[in-house]
Amino acid sequence: MGMSSTFIGALVLVILIQAKGQPGFISIDCGAEAGANYTEPSLQINYVSDENFINTGVRGTIASEEINTHAQQQLWRLRSFPEGKTNCYKINITRGSNYLIRTLFLYGNYDGRNMSPQFDLLLGANLWDTVTIQNASITQFNEIIHVPLLDFIQICLVNTGNGTPFITAIELRTLKNDTYVTESGSLERYLRCDLGSNRSYRYWADDYDRFWFTCDIKEVWTQLSASISDDSFFENDYKPGATIMSTAVTPANGNAPLVIGWEPEHETDEFYVYMHFTELQVLTTNQTRQFNITMNGELWFSNFSPQYMSVNTIYSPSGISGKEIKFSLERTENSTLPPIINAIEIYKVKQFNQSDTFQGHGSP
Ligand SMILES: *[C@@H]1O[C@H](CO)[C@@H](O)[C@H](O)[C@H]1NC(C)=O
Ligand SMILES: *[C@@H]1O[C@H](CO)[C@@H](O)[C@H](O)[C@H]1NC(C)=O
Ligand SMILES: *[C@@H]1O[C@H](CO)[C@@H](O)[C@H](O)[C@H]1NC(C)=O
Ligand SMILES: *[C@@H]1O[C@H](CO)[C@@H](O)[C@H](O)[C@H]1NC(C)=O
Ligand SMILES: *[C@@H]1O[C@H](CO)[C@@H](O)[C@H](O)[C@H]1NC(C)=O
Ligand SMILES: *[C@@H]1O[C@H](CO)[C@@H](O)[C@H](O)[C@H]1NC(C)=O
Ligand SMILES: *[C@@H]1O[C@H](CO)[C@@H](O)[C@H](O)[C@H]1NC(C)=O
Ligand SMILES: *[C@@H]1O[C@H](CO)[C@@H](O)[C@H](O)[C@H]1NC(C)=O
Ligand SMILES: *[C@@H]1O[C@H](CO)[C@@H](O)[C@H](O)[C@H]1NC(C)=O
Repeated sequence: MGMSSTFIGALVLVILIQAKGQPGFISIDCGAEAGANYTEPSLQINYVSDENFINTGVRGTIASEEINTHAQQQLWRLRSFPEGKTNCYKINITRGSNYLIRTLFLYGNYDGRNMSPQFDLLLGANLWDTVTIQNASITQFNEIIHVPLLDFIQICLVNTGNGTPFITAIELRTLKNDTYVTESGSLERYLRCDLGSNRSYRYWADDYDRFWFTCDIKEVWTQLSASISDDSFFENDYKPGATIMSTAVTPANGNAPLVIGWEPEHETDEFYVYMHFTELQVLTTNQTRQFNITMNGELWFSNFSPQYMSVNTIYSPSGISGKEIKFSLERTENSTLPPIINAIEIYKVKQFNQSDTFQGHGSP
């Protein structure tokens, strides 16, 4: 079943063509000097200092050789927390709105000790993740889609006795309210794949600044691509964007199904899946691309035909779980062409049942 669940990617720079507005973006450069407010040119994203969001911690800068290999300046500074068990950021947001919340960590031997720490990351009082720095030179990140219940969120770092916690950047992106809806719980990114592509993307290829990777899926696929101009492209609410949708995969053997499967760590883990489709070929009158989508052998969606230059997103209205989860795209009897898929997002449900506020020592 070949999908790897860990992606600690060095992000490739997105070539800049034009600046866009960034409504609903909050981008915080942790450890930047007070008053810092700048646009990172390679991303065209505006970052501000973290001074208004926290009053504890110590500002740090990654080692100079790390600065040379990381071009984006929001990665150069960080804030570390040698004092106190738990230190929290408090960020004002719009309650009830849907957010993509991302934290980034680049150790970069900022303390000259060459000792990568491990610490806990909390959202309010809830454990979000245990951050284990795998490689001092690689930017790690956590992403969650969450609807805050209060007018602010708290992001806390907890010293668990395995080194000094730190954080490099915090990024919040407002998503459309009626997208990524769950029956309960928040959505932690498990995989987000720009299929058929050879590189990673984020803003401005993606209006919501989701991180897209090529994904190392060990299935035998053929890459397809087409050029899609932004102005002729019809988006849906998930807005995967023309760049992401301009590549796709199809089974190398045209009669074989296109299979995407994974084995959850726990059988009770719940997943939500979002598949994005665009037909990349102009079909002649005697050509049909039509397929059924099955999930663990059960029909999930039938007689589906992707639309030319337009996005269709097929997603799970409720959580999916199992020992193994296997989606299979199978061409129908009428189809003259094999199935395709352009992009897929897989999220794992995270139940945050504690308070949204951290109530302990160390909260601001
Ligand atoms: C940062 O600068 C931009 C552009 O000058 C301005 O619109 C924005 O309000 C500033 N943000 C902060 C937090 O000062
Ligand atoms: C957050 O909101 C509170 C209450 O409205 C306000 O007092 C505070 O100044 C805001 N903080 C920032 C950083 O904007
Ligand atoms: C989403 O819902 C919240 C709360 O109802 C509302 O304040 C916000 O304006 C909505 N956002 C969008 C983009 O519709
Ligand atoms: C850390 O990542 C860098 C850059 O990808 C790589 O060159 C290096 O070998 C990695 N180090 C370890 C210890 O894996
Ligand atoms: C990706 O790389 C492969 C092998 O280098 C190449 O054949 C293919 O055309 C590339 N695909 C895209 C979409 O650039
Ligand atoms: C489709 O139609 C074209 C002409 O309209 C014809 O040349 C071609 O052979 C047909 N292809 C198939 C698979 O029937
Ligand atoms: C696709 O689904 C339809 C039910 O809507 C079924 O009749 C058909 O046999 C299925 N085709 C394949 C190839 O599974
Ligand atoms: C398959 O093709 C037949 C004959 O053209 C047509 O009657 C039928 O409606 C088609 N089925 C689907 C699901 O499109
Ligand atoms: C939160 O959920 C976990 C796992 O479902 C459970 O073990 C824990 O007791 C719950 N905590 C509260 C405060 O409800």
